[in-house]
Amino acid sequence: MIARATPCHAAALAEIESQQPRAAGWKQQGFESELLQPCAQIYYTQQGKELTAFLALRATHGFAEILNVAVLPRYTRQGLAFRLLTHALACLKQQRVEQVTLEVSQHNAAAVALYQKAGLRILGERKDFYGPSQHAFIMGIDL
Ligand SMILES: CC(C)(COP(=O)(O)OP(=O)(O)OC[C@H]1O[C@@H](n2cnc3c(N)ncnc32)[C@H](O)[C@@H]1OP(=O)(O)O)[C@@H](O)C(=O)NCCC(=O)NCCS
Repeated sequence: MIARATPCHAAALAEIESQQPRAAGWKQQGFESELLQPCAQIYYTQQGKELTAFLALRATHGFAEILNVAVLPRYTRQGLAFRLLTHALACLKQQRVEQVTLEVSQHNAAAVALYQKAGLRILGERKDFYGPSQHAFIMGIDL
């Protein structure tokens, strides 16, 4: 099941971030304030009462940016991120979003492969985006 998060999910979303060592490190307060933004959308998966993965994006005026994706370590390689991503892209298309972009570390081969599997292409790069010699790919897809 994939559902859309509300501010009451902030603690459970932050728990995914704290358990995933490669995650961006968003905290509960960050999720709460993000989810109060009208352009913010966070989709999540759940196993029993536990949230297992999420994808966060912002969409406005026909454009969307994927900001963060994370999966609990013991649930990785089971297709959760791919399902979240394809679900989010379908929702955005229904919302008449025409272009989706994101930045991803060039060292994050798993995430780059995930996005490519969902049809995103490398559009360019941002040098030193995550720090010295920590370059990012700009990836995107037209819906
Ligand atoms: C990257 C991440 C979101 C992938 O989640 P996941 O649920 O394990 O991914 P999926 O099982 O849906 O895999 C989909 C595709 O992604 C790619 N992929 C995922 N994990 C991979 C890995 N460890 N190595 C190589 N490719 C990988 C593969 O192409 C895979 O397709 P396949 O199973 O047919 O080979 C997860 O590892 C994670 O939470 N990483 C830490 C946070 C992060 O890096 N987020 C992305 C940047 S914001």
